[in-house]
Amino acid sequence: MIHVGMTEAYRVLGSDDLAELHDHRRDFAYDVLVGLSEKPKQLSSRYFYDDEGSRLFQEIMESPEYYLTGAEREILEGHAAEILRRSTGEPFDLVDLGAGDGAKTCVLLEHLLEAGADVRYVPIDISEGAMGSLADSLLTRLPGLSMHGLVSEYVDGVHWLSAHAAQRPKLVLFLGSNIGNFNAGQARAFLRRLWSSLAEGDRVLVGFDLKKDIDRLLGAYNDARGVTARFNVNLLARINRELGANFELEKFRHFSSYDVFSGAMESYLVSLEEQRVFVEAVGQEFHFEAWEPVHTEYSYKYLPSDIRSLAADTGFVIEEDFHDAKRDFVDSLWRVERAVR
Ligand code: AVI
Repeated sequence: MIHVGMTEAYRVLGSDDLAELHDHRRDFAYDVLVGLSEKPKQLSSRYFYDDEGSRLFQEIMESPEYYLTGAEREILEGHAAEILRRSTGEPFDLVDLGAGDGAKTCVLLEHLLEAGADVRYVPIDISEGAMGSLADSLLTRLPGLSMHGLVSEYVDGVHWLSAHAAQRPKLVLFLGSNIGNFNAGQARAFLRRLWSSLAEGDRVLVGFDLKKDIDRLLGAYNDARGVTARFNVNLLARINRELGANFELEKFRHFSSYDVFSGAMESYLVSLEEQRVFVEAVGQEFHFEAWEPVHTEYSYKYLPSDIRSLAADTGFVIEEDFHDAKRDFVDSLWRVERAVR
């Protein structure tokens, strides 16, 4: 895990454990070996976010079809005071899981600094590039901010939280429909783990994309400029770069569809012809038939009743739901309440 600390005048970027980074490469290789040996083949969406993938995701968020980002920005801009009113009276940590460029969180931070809140910002993101840009832009925009960034996966970030949970009250942001990339079991397990690493009264703001007109969903994951397609194909490019594979990128196409029953947008890379690909890091060749799909991502959409069950099943009490005007998206504010378990 890499820590990025920053004060008014300087920031320190240091890697405390190169061996751990090496393990990440080993995990990646193992997951690729297992995923490409399965039938149907699959690759985990957690590997989308190398520096190039994170950059492409920023581009997706700016595309006109990807309504999620604008809807959530509208919610945060319109409701910052209500979201934060229970937290501002005391020193607290604002923990941002999957912070990305922090553009949306900046709305909350500006509000907090204006209100003179004693807040420490703890962004957690898997991409070191994204964390570097985040630290740079926040240093410029909000020079008085106290920040302790972690370059790590959510789960490692949650471990870090466990070790620090007792120290200061926390508001944990899990925005942008990141929860949607977990299936039902994973979402429950993750939220349960988060709950167990937080203290009574800590809060979590979770961003859910709501079920809606199917054509809009399809459009959001099949944008006209093809950015989502490049984002998906970058996963193969990453395997080439990091694991010494020889994927020919133009021999795969991006495909996204919606399963009305499960509520998932599902993304695939489809092999356009029969081919063999060698992955040096695992010393293995993989065979693809013509039109064979590789599953790469689920993006689950929620009904309001799904959100209520999820909170209740994982030990949280819903305090308030904040919607955009079109009710495309909801940021749901939950409180840890141990008494209910
Ligand atoms: C990060 N995550 C919430 C995005 C989503 O909508 O599932 C990732 C993404 N995949 C394709 N477009 C955006």
